[in-house]
Formats: sequence, C-alpha cells, structure tokens
Amino acid sequence: MEKSSFPLHVGIIMDGNGRWAKKRGLPRPAGHSAGAAVFKKIVRYSSSIGIRYLTIYAFSTENWKRPVEEVGALIKLFKQYLQDALRDFLNENIKVCFLGDTSAFPQDLQNLISETEEVSKNKTGMVLNIALNYGSRAEIVRAVRLLAQEVKSGKLEPDAIEEADIEKYLYTSGQPDPDLIIRPSGENRISNFLLWQSAYSEYVVMDILWPDFKPKDLDWALEEYARRNRRFGGV
Ligand code: FPP
Repeated sequence: MEKSSFPLHVGIIMDGNGRWAKKRGLPRPAGHSAGAAVFKKIVRYSSSIGIRYLTIYAFSTENWKRPVEEVGALIKLFKQYLQDALRDFLNENIKVCFLGDTSAFPQDLQNLISETEEVSKNKTGMVLNIALNYGSRAEIVRAVRLLAQEVKSGKLEPDAIEEADIEKYLYTSGQPDPDLIIRPSGENRISNFLLWQSAYSEYVVMDILWPDFKPKDLDWALEEYARRNRRFGGV
C-alpha cells in the first residue's frame, strides 16, 4: 500500500457487544468481555502494522444511562485492562492517552489511568487514545469555557479566535485529525465521537459486531480507505 493511502490516525467506535451477547443468550456484560479481548488484539495489530494514532471509543458521556450492573462490569473491564497494560507496557512501545472527563470514575480507576499515562508518556510508538466518559459536545463545551477564560483575562480578543484556538483545548490537542473512522455493527451513526476532528474523516461502516472483529477486518477497512478519493472540499 502506498504511504499516502495509509491512514495516520484511525478511530474505532466499538459497537455491537450487547447484540453479540444477546444472540448467544448471554448477559450484555459477556459481550463487553469478549469486546475487551478484541480491543487488546486490535491495539497490538494496529501498532504492528504502523498505525501512528489509534482512537477507540470505549465509554461515552451517555453510557452512564445503562443499567448500573452493566456500567459496573465495564468499569471492572477498564481496570483489568489497565492493570494488564501496566505490566505489558514494559515491553511495548505504545503511548496511552485518555480522552474525556475521567474524574467521574472511581478513584482506583483514576489512579490506574494516571499511572498508565505516566508509565507510557515517553514511548515513541503508536499513540493509543482511549475515549472514556468522552462526548464530543462535552469536549467542545470544555474548550469554549477554557477559551472564554482567555478572553475574560484579556489574553485573547474575540475577533482573533481561530480554529487553532479551539483545537488547542480539545483532548486531542497536538494530534492529527482522524483519517479513517471505522464503525462495526452496521449502525450509520456518529454517536458524539470526534465531531470537530472528523470534519474530513472517511467513514467505513462494517456489518460485523465488535466481538467478531478480526485483524483481517481492519485490513479490509484500510483497503477501503485506500480506494477513497479525499478532496477536503477541493476538486
Ligand atoms: C458498545 O456496544 C460498546 C460499549 C459501550 C463498550 C465498549 C467497551 C468495551 C469493549 C470494554 C473494553 C474496553 C477497554 C478499553 C478495555 P453496545 O453495548 O452498545 O452494543 P449494542 O449496540 O449491540 O447493544
């Protein structure tokens, strides 16, 4: 594949865990456990094939509306993953960042999040963004509030505000915009994911539930991306 047709930044909306479990007569958290195993595999595979930035939507600001047992099971999976990751990162060259308001999670998960960021901060390989308690609208509101503080303190004139001023307060500040966003499970929705950053992203919706997603499915999405003709509003 030519370098220019290979995405620098890939986003994935992990979707379909609940349906996967239901099809098997299992409780929804069983779908999330299966999804967590796939998440681990796809992170490793993405890093091995040279993806530089991978952003995965793991928990949205709206996911708190789910039954308390399901939210609890997800929090347990996040903790387990980070405990394992902290051990594995000794051998892996992946930098982990978190997008979202993680202060809403229990203290022990917050500690694991800070530790993971700290341990991996000087890694030079793939950047893995895990979106946790993330919502794009909440992210933009946060950026606007921070920008308003700059205006209030006299550091910035309202008329001088540019796109870059908003970008610098997004959780993804300093990172390139996603080139490709993959949504498994067949749903044609954005679901409040990277609304600002995906202005010119290519979407690939795949008719496969996340727990069934394999490295070859990522390859397929990458090939589909390579066939797209990106014009960024030009001709
Ligand atoms: C959406 O599927 C999935 C989620 C809201 C949770 C995704 C989280 C994991 C896979 C856990 C592991 C993550 C990490 C970072 C270790 P859904 O439940 O909405 O599926 P449905 O649309 O079929 O109901």
